[in-house]
Amino acid sequence: MTFDPQVEQEAAAILARYPEKRSALLPFLHLVQREQGYLSPATMEEVARRLHLHPVEVLEVATFYSWFNLKPVGKHRLQVCQNLSCTLRGAERIIGTLKEELRIGEGETSPDGLFTLQRVECLASCGSAPVMQVNDEYHENLSPESVRALLTRWRAAAR
Ligand code: FES
Repeated sequence: MTFDPQVEQEAAAILARYPEKRSALLPFLHLVQREQGYLSPATMEEVARRLHLHPVEVLEVATFYSWFNLKPVGKHRLQVCQNLSCTLRGAERIIGTLKEELRIGEGETSPDGLFTLQRVECLASCGSAPVMQVNDEYHENLSPESVRALLTRWRAAAR
């Protein structure tokens, strides 16, 4: 399997930075996910082959971190924290609002392909709970109103 030439070039640069190939695993997974949107079994096998790892080692890392998608996701991946501070400050209301607005359940993607809703463990921003990570951005001190405003903004941008 080969990746896009630009990705191959970046992959070579990543691999050159690490004398121990296995140390390149996280940046390599981020790179290929950025290209493909998620990590397919074939992609993880290819990463394992290039880093001289067993495919299970790659799978273990990919499933441990909530950064990685193991199946296709929407353009905006909405990851709502469900840990203590966020729960005490209304995370369930945030998840409920998103389900209602998007008419999807947790783990599902909206039919327009714009949103995937997920629950995740602590996002390490407990002081600004409730928190949602959307792709690489944090949205903090959320309320049902601010969540609706974000959805409106993203929907308008997609038109
Ligand atoms: S409890 Fe939600 S960020 Fe830590």
